[in-house]
Amino acid sequence: MADPAGRNWDQDLRHWMEAVDAEGALKTITGAETTEEIGGILDLYQRKMGNPAILFDEVPGFPKGHRVLANVLTSVQRINVALGLPADGSERDLVLWWRDYMKHAPKFAPETVATGALQENVVEGDAIDITSIPTPTWHEHDGGPFIGTGCMVVMKDPDDGWVNYGAYRVQTHGPKTASVMMSPGRHGRLIMDKYHARGEPCPVAVVAGMHPTLLMIAGLEIPQGVSEYDAVGGIFGEPVRTLEMPRTGIPVPANAEIAFEGYIHQDDLVEEGPLGEWTGYYAGGKRMQPAIRIETFMHRDEPVLLGVIPAVPPNDNTYYLGSYRSGAVWNQLEAAGIPDVKGVCAHEAGGSRLWLTVSIKQRYGGHSKQAGLIASQCYAGGYTNRWVIVVDDDIDPTNTNDVLWAMCTRFDPRMDMEQIDGAWSTSLDPMCYDGDTDKRNSRLVIDACRPWNRMDEFPIVARSSRELDDRIREKWAHVLPDGT
Ligand SMILES: Cc1cc2nc3c(=O)[nH]c(=O)nc-3n(C[C@H](O)[C@H](O)[C@H](O)COP(=O)(O)O)c2cc1C
Repeated sequence: MADPAGRNWDQDLRHWMEAVDAEGALKTITGAETTEEIGGILDLYQRKMGNPAILFDEVPGFPKGHRVLANVLTSVQRINVALGLPADGSERDLVLWWRDYMKHAPKFAPETVATGALQENVVEGDAIDITSIPTPTWHEHDGGPFIGTGCMVVMKDPDDGWVNYGAYRVQTHGPKTASVMMSPGRHGRLIMDKYHARGEPCPVAVVAGMHPTLLMIAGLEIPQGVSEYDAVGGIFGEPVRTLEMPRTGIPVPANAEIAFEGYIHQDDLVEEGPLGEWTGYYAGGKRMQPAIRIETFMHRDEPVLLGVIPAVPPNDNTYYLGSYRSGAVWNQLEAAGIPDVKGVCAHEAGGSRLWLTVSIKQRYGGHSKQAGLIASQCYAGGYTNRWVIVVDDDIDPTNTNDVLWAMCTRFDPRMDMEQIDGAWSTSLDPMCYDGDTDKRNSRLVIDACRPWNRMDEFPIVARSSRELDDRIREKWAHVLPDGT
């Protein structure tokens, strides 16, 4: 089905794979096994963003066609394809697109359909075996295979029927048992607690292979009471077509690759983890987490498991969030009344959270400090931040060298540095410490702008002006290095 702009989403992962393959950005690898080799190959691929997505097939011990897709959203091109944007659009275009998307927040309610490709295989009772899906142990020190990494964990609020889904990791513990790790405050955890407070088990569905736009929205802070399905419909420009799972009635994408449903019973916990984390460490360790007792397992013929794997950043788990978070922080600075923000970069080295660079056109004394302090505390920027760097508008915040140059040459440690203690963090932050009931951290706001009171006399920059650059490019293009 095509949307008004003529884009044919088809809403499933295979359609996205075809589009990415047509761009030359999908590579098939055969023969790698699940305990070490798929994860090991992936780790090497992820060390540089822009490498192709990988489709693992002919996995030893599994039927040909039972596949694992990974390294998915590690290029701007593939994120663009998922969002229906021109494949060759730049990272800045993507930041601006997220800014616009968040301002208008288009919505389209999902449509329930009776049939879908997901129903090609429906397994119930003792025949259920989620270990029939090739599921890697993604890193050497992981506690086991995780079927849910780039997944959707779908639940329905028992009070008002609000359908929420989020990306929460799901470990495989056996043919009919999985676990889910939801950090405090996650909507899924709030819904689960409501069922348990009523003395009822919490119905849940897990989707482990679907169109990447469904995944992207799973990882965003969509407000309580709003369904992620509506937000994805707003991007697709048409309703997400969903099927109701047979036992729980929880809606899942009709063309999903793999899904299962079941119940989380109160105090039914299993030892979970560890899984290498988005900060690049194992800080969370092994803990007791809610078990999912599976009652129905469904998958397409030749199913594709989607893996979106955290690792030392940049990694697939956080890379796409960089352009989103840059746009979100930019919008929130504007909403707080900060004038003349020219760009924001949530740097991949910090998992798109721990490092934010904000570029401004300085308008008044204290403007840069104000921008930095707000970026470090606003909702989109405040969670697990460590560094906020504010630079002038001649610095491209995405150019690491230029940002470091500004820090080296425009920053005075005597007055341009603010330390904030006791800020919002998580146990996944290796430098967090205990707050009263939660984890906190300390962070720095660095003002690397030219000092406001020395603007007129500050040394001029030893680099050609933009105008001279343009004249030289026009006349001397044939002698200049590629990409100049
Ligand atoms: C690939 C990926 C994996 C994630 N894994 C987890 C996880 O295991 N546990 C968790 O609490 N949050 C995880 N997150 C973050 C949540 O998905 C994110 O905070 C989201 O907004 C939660 O949805 P909710 O607001 O509906 O709770 C992950 C995000 C992504 C993109």
